[in-house]
Amino acid sequence: MLADRDRIFTNLYGRGDWRLPGARQRGDWDGTKDLIAKGRDWIVNEIKESGLRGRGGAGFPTGLKWSFMPKQSERPAYLVVNADESEPGTCKDRDILRHDPHKLIEGALLAAVGMGAQYGYIYIRGEFYNEAQRLQAAIDEAYAAGLIGKNACGSGYDFELYLHRGAGAYICGEETGLLESLEGRKGQPRLKPPFPAAVGLYGCPTTVNNVETIAVVPSILRRGATWFAGIGRPRNTGTKIFCISGHVNAPCNVEEEMGIPLKELIERHAGGVRGGWDNLLAVIPGGSSVPVLPRSVCEEVLMDFDSLQAVKSGLGTAAVIVMDKSTDIVKAIARLSAFYKHESCGQCTPCREGTGWMWRVIERMVEGNAAVAEIDMLLDVSYEVEGHTICALGDAAAWPIQGLIRHFRPEIERRIAKYRAAAMPRAAE
Ligand SMILES: Cc1cc2nc3c(=O)[nH]c(=O)nc-3n(C[C@H](O)[C@H](O)[C@H](O)COP(=O)(O)O)c2cc1C
Repeated sequence: MLADRDRIFTNLYGRGDWRLPGARQRGDWDGTKDLIAKGRDWIVNEIKESGLRGRGGAGFPTGLKWSFMPKQSERPAYLVVNADESEPGTCKDRDILRHDPHKLIEGALLAAVGMGAQYGYIYIRGEFYNEAQRLQAAIDEAYAAGLIGKNACGSGYDFELYLHRGAGAYICGEETGLLESLEGRKGQPRLKPPFPAAVGLYGCPTTVNNVETIAVVPSILRRGATWFAGIGRPRNTGTKIFCISGHVNAPCNVEEEMGIPLKELIERHAGGVRGGWDNLLAVIPGGSSVPVLPRSVCEEVLMDFDSLQAVKSGLGTAAVIVMDKSTDIVKAIARLSAFYKHESCGQCTPCREGTGWMWRVIERMVEGNAAVAEIDMLLDVSYEVEGHTICALGDAAAWPIQGLIRHFRPEIERRIAKYRAAAMPRAAE
């Protein structure tokens, strides 16, 4: 369990003042100038040593990503903060934006120094209207206090930070779809390579990072890489905000140690499963894109990148969606299929056609109106979509279905048998 002294987001629940004086009281913007003075290489090394892995879903090592930014470039370099947060079940970045906006702004400045960027954009999802207002107010405060802008914090470093509102599209959370949207075009992901560090925003070197990734940077630099690396487990270090929703007694966001057992997370922080642990059917542990886990796996599994990958799921955005036995699990996954079909940008054929195809078949399976052989056909099609598209939306559409079939195939077969049995007498008439 995370000790209080190790908590980074001390205003996660908004009990304190989100404005600059409150933020300063919590330790934000303390000695930022000195951290900048330690230089670009020190910042990147410290982030590497801390073991921080991106909090946007894929878990890519953050320091390594920053090190891809060119040291010498004629072109400007950009930091882009991904505040699109559209993964169903996920609402952690929202609370950072609402209650701790200065952690993000200070983090953006320090990250920008680490990657040699003079400009930062925060791309915030359109529906976060109130959050955008508040974040803009905090950015204005930071400018007025000389913390960002020309000679940020008196360090001699110039850093301009802009807020850009999206228009409500899941695909604009994908980093290159986001860059297209930021440039004023339709949010369709780009082919990689070239990667954004070489050719990103306006064709210039760019790094895209998640809100939580950037917001933990000041604490790591102030308290030291060793401190952060000492929390959690090897390769899975630090603290993490988990969003616990669904059939629990007290849904919540909570900052915990990476690698906390799933069962402990739910019981300690979310008041346990509705009706008790034995009433648990399944958990989606990392936002709607990752494969569902049955109760038997939930019993022991740890909440980190490697442990969840080992059970063929993922930490994703750490949005824990709890489903008790009252859940129609096939219908729940079919609902997610409808989401991915709706959000596919239509650029790649396997995703454009596959998401609709998978959705139509799984909708029939909810009723049982399918052939048993179609279960394997659905699985095959999901493998044809996975890994065959420009961006990972195809994977995100395929994985929930794969998880369902892996763990709940008998339930689909039961429905098919029931449907057949009910249809037979009519067929005989
Ligand atoms: C369809 C799709 C949607 C995504 N949405 C988000 C999002 O809303 N927020 C986010 O931070 N990352 C999102 N990502 C991941 C980003 O592409 C990117 O990996 C991330 O912003 C990198 O940040 P990190 O290295 O700090 O994790 C999405 C990816 C895909 C494929």
